[in-house]
Amino acid sequence: MKKIRIAIQKSGRLNEDSLQILKDCGISIDNGKDQLKASSRNFPLEAFYLRNGDIPQYLRDGVVDIAIIGENVLIEKGQDLIVAEKLGFSKCKVSLAIPKSVKYNSIKDFEGKRIATSYPNTVENYLKEKGVKAELHIINGSVEIAPNIGLADAICDIVSSGSTLFKNNLKEVEVMLHSEAVLVVSPQISEEGKILLEKLRFRIQSVLRARQ
Ligand code: PRP
Ligand code: MG
Repeated sequence: MKKIRIAIQKSGRLNEDSLQILKDCGISIDNGKDQLKASSRNFPLEAFYLRNGDIPQYLRDGVVDIAIIGENVLIEKGQDLIVAEKLGFSKCKVSLAIPKSVKYNSIKDFEGKRIATSYPNTVENYLKEKGVKAELHIINGSVEIAPNIGLADAICDIVSSGSTLFKNNLKEVEVMLHSEAVLVVSPQISEEGKILLEKLRFRIQSVLRARQ
């Protein structure tokens, strides 16, 4: 029997929350920690544990049929992809932050500044809209360290509890967007895949209703 292939974040907060919603849908997946692929015993579904940023391309290529990812990733790398369902968990912001000790007046303060980020497209569009020109430094993780080591004047990254900013002596000065987990569909999904997707969506919708 055909299985629907779903991409899930390999590690991190979204990983746990994604597996939890599937579990609440009655879909259990054997989750060997270092396994990159796992099947469900009680639903025709196969999970692929992937890096967040790689998931939009896997969807486009039809390597997976669906995915649970953060809207923030979709806005950065997957504006062309279709959201089937907002999932209401893994809520976060994508924000600009600067050292606590630096006074902040307005977005104009970013003019000519160096910003470290893993979200270059999002920052670029935001600054463009505001008529501000800055220099972007793309870093893939631990972005908040950049101002402390003299690599940048500011950072743009995900803010959830705010504890990473706090620990690195940074303060949030602009919220660029609010994000939550979403269910995204590959443009290449087969007719069989679509039938399984509808079954899954039906279960997800009941779980979301019960969670309210
Ligand atoms: C994420 C994100 C922020 C932090 C935000 O990093 O990049 O740094 O979480 O969460 P908080 O506001 O609750 O502190 P993560 O720990 O996933 O690691 P990474 O940046 O190295 O990918
Ligand atoms: Mg981080």
